[in-house]
Amino acid sequence: MLTPSPRAAAVEPFHVMRILERARALQAAGRDIIHMEVGEPDFPTPEPMREAARSALESAPLGYTPAAGLPELRRAIAGYYGRRYGVELDPLRVIVTPGGSGALQLALAAVVGVGDGVLTSDPGYPCNDLIASLLGGIPRRAALSADDGFAIRAAHMAAHWQPRTRALMVATPSNPTGAVIARDELAALHALARERDAALIVDEIYQGLTYGEEDCTAVALGDDNVFVVNSFSKYFGMTGWRLGWLVAPTAFADVLSRLAQNLYLAAPTLSQCAALAAFAPRTLALLDERRDLLRERRDVLLAALRAIGFEVPVHPGGAFYIYARIPRSQDDAASLAQCLLEEAGVAVTPGIDFGRHDAERMLRFAYTTDKARLLQAVERIGAAIGVG
Ligand SMILES: Cc1ncc(COP(=O)(O)O)c(C=O)c1O
Repeated sequence: MLTPSPRAAAVEPFHVMRILERARALQAAGRDIIHMEVGEPDFPTPEPMREAARSALESAPLGYTPAAGLPELRRAIAGYYGRRYGVELDPLRVIVTPGGSGALQLALAAVVGVGDGVLTSDPGYPCNDLIASLLGGIPRRAALSADDGFAIRAAHMAAHWQPRTRALMVATPSNPTGAVIARDELAALHALARERDAALIVDEIYQGLTYGEEDCTAVALGDDNVFVVNSFSKYFGMTGWRLGWLVAPTAFADVLSRLAQNLYLAAPTLSQCAALAAFAPRTLALLDERRDLLRERRDVLLAALRAIGFEVPVHPGGAFYIYARIPRSQDDAASLAQCLLEEAGVAVTPGIDFGRHDAERMLRFAYTTDKARLLQAVERIGAAIGVG
């Protein structure tokens, strides 16, 4: 009998997918569901990108692009780092990928061999561990402390280092906590990786979505041992277009291009044409307005959740998530998520999707819907748990 390979069979499902499926079924049956479970804001892709896609559909040949992406898009991305972050970047270091997901896969495939260690954080983005395992790597999660605001610190990561650790993966702002890594801590993480001949992989896919925190980039760290993952999904509002990019050391440009050729040939051409409009001043002005709206939503939701007894260990400085500890009166977060969906019509993600450490008492709330709906959600949650 044909069975899935052991590495494939070991892949764990996201609990949130079960919640999403059930939420959709309830909705189809006529229930009003407030969605706070999926990492996708309710804003449509901005008009300049749609316009660029329509025009490409009419006039561009739309064949494959080079594996590393359209040269003009790679230049546009490099130019964006220059204008927005004051970092000079050679476009040859930019590889356009199918989503930030594609960039994570490429970066890990480029550095991880069978038996190599990949150090990630708990809580953190679970796909990193999975990709590492599929490549034959051995993921290890450093548990972050709620008392320290789930901060990722070089000294703490060093304490979890193993002899064969080849990659250290961090995200800023973080999913699920929204925590932002400060510039000097990023430099310390880079120094740690360099000292141990490992790669520092920094996931910046929520870049641009910071609220009062410094919006810096690991690209500024230089051209050695650092890989920066980014995406058009979140700040640029293009989740469904499946487009992202990787900034890699010059020494890896060639191997990454060969990997891209073999893994997926090239990122979607129409999406790349659309993304050429992403860095236009009028697009960026619109995206910054959206960011300001997200900040207002965060403030409203944070206050409302705290008022009904949820504890938020980290003041989320970025992304669009609040990672909250459930009130003491509740047994565990996964059952609470289930009950909130069934009884209150509010869909949220249980912490166990993001790690093991302390996760059974945590829920992730995505503020991806408008303020009135967020407040309505909290009112319903309060009623369901007997508060407010
Ligand atoms: C931290 C993080 N990295 C990467 C991704 C992948 O996103 P995409 O492939 O849409 O760029 C996500 C998606 O939610 C994420 O939260």
